[in-house]
Amino acid sequence: MLDLSKPPAHPLVSVSILSADFCTMATDVRDVLERGADLLHIDVMDGHFAPNLTMGPDMVRALRKHFPDTFLDVHLMVQQPARFIEPFAAAGANQCSFHVEVCKPHWPSGSDARSLIDAIHKAGMRAGMVLNPGTDPASLSSYWDDLELVLVMSVVPGFSGQKFMPEVLPTVRWLRERLPSRTRIEIDGGINAQTARDAAGAGAELLISASALFGAADRSLVIRQLHEALR
Ligand code: DX5
Ligand code: ZN
Repeated sequence: MLDLSKPPAHPLVSVSILSADFCTMATDVRDVLERGADLLHIDVMDGHFAPNLTMGPDMVRALRKHFPDTFLDVHLMVQQPARFIEPFAAAGANQCSFHVEVCKPHWPSGSDARSLIDAIHKAGMRAGMVLNPGTDPASLSSYWDDLELVLVMSVVPGFSGQKFMPEVLPTVRWLRERLPSRTRIEIDGGINAQTARDAAGAGAELLISASALFGAADRSLVIRQLHEALR
C-alpha cells in the first residue's frame, strides 16, 4: 500500500475515476494503474454541496475488491460528512476528506471539524480537509496538526473537465510553508501537463487528474508528465 506519511520523491498521480467509463470501470482503472498511476481518487457528491450526483461506498467496496493493494482516497463533497465516514471506511477507503465550507463557522449549522477528524481517525483512515477556491486557508490552522492531508480545489466542485484556476496557487504555497512535513497537499481540478508544473512548483504533492488522463490518446505520457512535473 502507498505510504503517504513522508513527502514523495516526485508528484504522485491521483486518478479521479469520475471521468472513467462507468460501464468499464475495472478495465479503465486497471489500465491507468498499470501505466503507473499511484492512487485512486473517489469524488462523492450529494446534489446539495455540489450540483451533481456521483458515487458512494458501494463503488469503493467494488474497487477494494478488484484492487486490494491500491490506495483509495475519498473526497466527500457532501453537506453532512459524518453520515458517510463509517460506510466508506467499512468499504475499504484509506483516506477521507471533507470540505471546510460545510463546517462551523463557515456554515453555522454545519459540522464540527474536530469531531469529523476524530471520526475519520477512529475509523482507521487518514484525515483530510478541503478548501474551495476562495476559501481562506487560515481557516484550517487550528486543525492542521491533526490532518494528514489538505486538498486544495482548483475548480468549483461539481464536474470533471473544468479549467484550472491559477488564483489558488498562492494558497498552495501558503500551506506548504506552514503545514507539518507529514501533511500532504493535494490539488484537484483542471490538472494537465501544463498546470501540473505550476501546481507541483507551488507545493502540491498529489495531482488529481480525471479528464486529462482518461481523455488522452496516450495515458502513459500524461502520467509520466505529471510524475515529472517538477523537473
Ligand atoms: C471536481 C472533482 C474533481 C474532478 C477532476 O468537482 O472533485 O476530482 O473529477 O476532474 P478534472 O481532472 O477533469 O478537472
Ligand atoms: Zn475530487
